[in-house]
Amino acid sequence: MKFIATSVDDSTQKMKSMVQAELQRPDYAIDQYFYRSHLVYAKELDALIFRSWLYACHISEIPHPGDYQLFEIGEDSVIISRDAMGEIHALMNVCRHRGARVCEEASGNRKTFVCPYHGWVYNTDGSLRAAREMEVKEGFDSSQYGLKAARVEVFMGMIFINCDAQAADFRGPLENLARSLGAYDLEHAKIAHKQSYRVDANWKLVLENYLECYHCATSHRAYARMHTLKDRDCNVEHLVEAMLERTERVTGVPGMGTDYERIYLDAEGFGACAYTMRYGLYDGYLTGSEDGQPVAPLMGHIKGYDGGVGDFQLGPLSFMLNYPDHCVLYRFIPRGLTATDMEVVWFVNGDAREGVDYDRDKLIWLWHNTTMEDEFIITRNSEGVNSRFFEPGPYHPEFEATLQQFVLWYLDTLANTP
Ligand code: FES
Ligand SMILES: [Fe+2]
Repeated sequence: MKFIATSVDDSTQKMKSMVQAELQRPDYAIDQYFYRSHLVYAKELDALIFRSWLYACHISEIPHPGDYQLFEIGEDSVIISRDAMGEIHALMNVCRHRGARVCEEASGNRKTFVCPYHGWVYNTDGSLRAAREMEVKEGFDSSQYGLKAARVEVFMGMIFINCDAQAADFRGPLENLARSLGAYDLEHAKIAHKQSYRVDANWKLVLENYLECYHCATSHRAYARMHTLKDRDCNVEHLVEAMLERTERVTGVPGMGTDYERIYLDAEGFGACAYTMRYGLYDGYLTGSEDGQPVAPLMGHIKGYDGGVGDFQLGPLSFMLNYPDHCVLYRFIPRGLTATDMEVVWFVNGDAREGVDYDRDKLIWLWHNTTMEDEFIITRNSEGVNSRFFEPGPYHPEFEATLQQFVLWYLDTLANTP
C-alpha cells in the first residue's frame, strides 16, 4: 500500500506523549501513529538513520581508483568512491554551489564528478577542482567547497558509513566479531548476486520482521524445515549443543562458535550494534539451499560443514546469515514513510566461478524466495497496521525479544530528540 492517510493533527509534543505512552507498555506492539506520522519519519532520519553505522557496499564493487557506487538513503544520495590514491570516501551527492546532484548513474568509474548544472568539478576524494568563472568572486576559496563527507569504516572488506561527524567508534565493537566473521574471509569474497527489493511499508515494519522468527514457521516453509531458529530454545537446545561441540573441530576455525551481543540500547556506542551467534540446522542439512546440500565451495578458512549457521548484526540495520559455503547480507534502508529498500547480497568464495563452482539460481533460491515471502507478509502487515481498527497486541516473550530491544532503543532515541 503506497498511499496512506496520515495524521494532520501532529506535533513534537504529540510525538513525545505517544513515546511516553509506549514506554508504559513495553511488551505490546507500538501504535500505528509511529508508522503514519511524517513528523516521526523526519525525526527518525535525523536522530537515528543518519546517526547510525550503515553497510554501504563491498570493496570488490569499487576495486579501482575512480570506481564509485551510489548509496540511496531516504531522499539522499551518497557517493561511495575510491580516489586516485585508492582511499575510500563517502561523499554527499549535493553540489556545494546550488545543490544539484553531481552524479546520476548508480555506479561507474570517474576521473571527476562534474555538476550538470553550472559545471563545478570535484575530484574523486570530494575536493573542489574547478568552479567555472568563480575567480571573479573576491576571496573565493575553493578549498572550502569540497563535497561534504561521511565517516567511513572498512571492516573485512565491508564498507560502513555514518553521516554523523560525532559518531561513536565502530571498529571496537566490530572487533568482537573478528574470530567468527573472520572465518569467511569476506575481504576476498566475491559477490555472486545482489538484489534490492522495494517494500511498500514503513522501514520499521521491515526491520521488525527480520528481528523475529515467530513468523518463520508460518511464512517460510523452506527456511523452517532446515533452521532451528524457528523453534523455541528448549526444543532445539540439544541440537545446537551437539553442533557447537563439533564446530571448531569440523570447521577448523578457533572461535567459530563465539557468542557476542551488544545491540541497540546495549551497544557500545549509538548506532554501533555488534552481534554474533551460531545456531543449528536440523540433522541432515548442511547449508541454506533448496535441499540443504552445498551450493558453492567452502568459504575462507572453513574446512567442513558443522551443521551450523553464523548469525550476525553489524549496526542497527545490517545483518548477515553465514553458511559454510555462502554468506547472505541484509540491509534495510528507509526511502520514504511507506517505502523501504531491502537489499540482499550473496557472497561466495573469491575463487568460485559462476557456472563451474556454483549455479547462481541454486545459490540464491532460499533467500530470494524467503525475501519474497517477507515482502508479501510485510505488505499485509502494513495494510493492517494502517487500519483504523488496529489495536497493538502483546509480543511473544521469547520469539519477539530482539524486536523489543529494537523498539526500546527506538523509543528511547525519540524520547531524547529535541
Ligand atoms: S549547482 Fe552545481 S554547479 Fe551550480
Ligand atoms: Fe521472514
